[in-house]
Amino acid sequence: MARKKIVAGNWKMNKTLTEARSLVEEVLKNNPADNKVCKIIFPPFLFLSELNVLLTGREDVFTGAQNCHTLDAGAYTGETSAQAIASVGASYVLVGHSERRQYFHENSEVLKSKLDAVYRNGLIPVYCIGEVLAERKQSVHFQVVARQLADVCAHISPEHAARLILAYEPVWAIGTGETATPQQAEEMHAFIRKELKQLHGERMAEQCQILYGGSCNASNAAELFACPNVDGGLIGGASLKVEDFTAIIQAACSVPV
Ligand code: PGA
Repeated sequence: MARKKIVAGNWKMNKTLTEARSLVEEVLKNNPADNKVCKIIFPPFLFLSELNVLLTGREDVFTGAQNCHTLDAGAYTGETSAQAIASVGASYVLVGHSERRQYFHENSEVLKSKLDAVYRNGLIPVYCIGEVLAERKQSVHFQVVARQLADVCAHISPEHAARLILAYEPVWAIGTGETATPQQAEEMHAFIRKELKQLHGERMAEQCQILYGGSCNASNAAELFACPNVDGGLIGGASLKVEDFTAIIQAACSVPV
C-alpha cells in the first residue's frame, strides 16, 4: 500500500489571530478538498480552537500543536497539556523539534514523556530527528540519527509505533535556506526505514510516513517529494506564505503514486 503524502506547516511563533485566520482561509480556497495529500497546520496554541472551526467539513486538513507538557494537568504555569490540545480538536503534536531541544533543553527523557502524553490523549506525534552541522561534517550523521531513532523506538509499544510519524530535519538546513539535496534526503530516509525495520518490523517500517524538513520550499519540494522514501514535508518559513505553501501542497499532489 502506498504511503499518503503529508504537507505540514510549522508556523513557529508567527502570526496574529487575524493573519492566522486569513492564511488558513486562503490555503483552503487555493486547495480544494482532495484525499491525495494530508495537510497539517501547526499554529501557535492560541489559534488552534479558532482555526479548527474554519476547517469544519474538510477531511484533508488538520491542526496540530507545536509542543505539549508531559502531564495532563497540574500547577505548571504557562504550560499546555496534550489533554487540552485534544479537547480543542487538534490531531497532531510536534515532539522533539530541534528548536525545542536547543532552546528549551528538551532531552530524550523529556521527549519520551511527551510522546507518552501525546499517545495517552489519542493524538499522533510527529517526532523530529536529525543531525547538527558538526555531526554531518564529521560523517557521523547516520549514527546520530540511528541513536535518536533507537531511543524513541525502544520506548514505544508496537501499537504506538504504528501511529508514529517521523520528520527528518537536518538541523543545518532549518531556517538557513540550505536544503538537503534530494539525494541526501533520500539516502537518510531510506536509512531510517531500514533501521525501523530492525526496530519494529517490516510492516511498521513500510507504513511509517517520514517527512523531510529544512528549507523545503516551492522550488525544491517537487524534487524532494519525488524521492521514494520521502513522504512529504515539514515546512517552516515557506508555510507562512499562501502562494508558497500552496505550491508545496500542489507539488505533493502531483507526485505519481
Ligand atoms: P524551515 O523550518 O522550513 O523554515 O527550514 C522547518 C522546521 O523547522 O520544521
